[in-house]
Amino acid sequence: MRTIRTVPELRAHLTRVEGRVGLVPTMGAFHAGHESLIGAARADTDHVVVSLFVNPAQFNDPRDLEAYPRDERADASIAQELGADVLFAPAPETVYPDGFATTVRVAGLSDVLEGAQRGPGHFAGVCTVVAKLFNMVRPDVAYFGQKDAQQVAVLRRMVEDLDFPLALEVCPTVREPDGLALSSRNVRLSPGERAKAAGLPQALRVAAEGGVEAGLAVLREYGIEPEYLALVDPDTFEAPGPLAVVAATVGTTRLIDNVLIERAATPERRGADPKGAVSVLPTP
Ligand code: PAF
Repeated sequence: MRTIRTVPELRAHLTRVEGRVGLVPTMGAFHAGHESLIGAARADTDHVVVSLFVNPAQFNDPRDLEAYPRDERADASIAQELGADVLFAPAPETVYPDGFATTVRVAGLSDVLEGAQRGPGHFAGVCTVVAKLFNMVRPDVAYFGQKDAQQVAVLRRMVEDLDFPLALEVCPTVREPDGLALSSRNVRLSPGERAKAAGLPQALRVAAEGGVEAGLAVLREYGIEPEYLALVDPDTFEAPGPLAVVAATVGTTRLIDNVLIERAATPERRGADPKGAVSVLPTP
């Protein structure tokens, strides 16, 4: 595996490769969720590029950006073990050089739930960096996790609206045995907070079966005050719909999760269609 840091070097490398290119965009701090994305890219495509860039433009809180876990050496070794061909790890000034003045923004979808909580710049920051990565790498397929369901919906809209010639693959959320969705932020939870965080997937499961009020009651039992718990459409993120979504800060760690109501999926669709990418939660 090669580590590449500049766009000219990346372009020169990619002109020499043959076959389908898979891109796994990441902000590092790899866990089994990232590993499943890299594994899917390795299985489906001929040349796997994993990008590693903690994107300042998508953080509304400088303390959150500062505290974001970073360990390039460990990430590089995981990517190599999983068969990635390139780790593309650009410096901030490579992505945002002096004079950078363009923003890609998906109206509407970017302003609700995660967008409303994290501020108007969050999804614009995601779209701008992902559009740049798509132009830098020119992948045939790009891989994202279902855990960031609203990010997936926003990026789908962007890909369609801007005619990016690529496919988006959405991989199911990877979970701990008690249902907690894997996240790079989980390492910041104390043991007590970790136990409390298990309330999030439980509340989603209950909300998906019995409605938002029932889910909120579970969160209260766990002592969690959510930013939102809602049942929305997975494409528009408008209520009502079959996707249960939640965001809450546990201790000082902000966590999000979602689960699609089971009846929306058939076994054939699972894993093949993002609307069928059901997060299977353990029963309590
Ligand atoms: O999901 C993430 O890790 C980030 O939002 C992404 C897609 C890598 C863009 O910075």
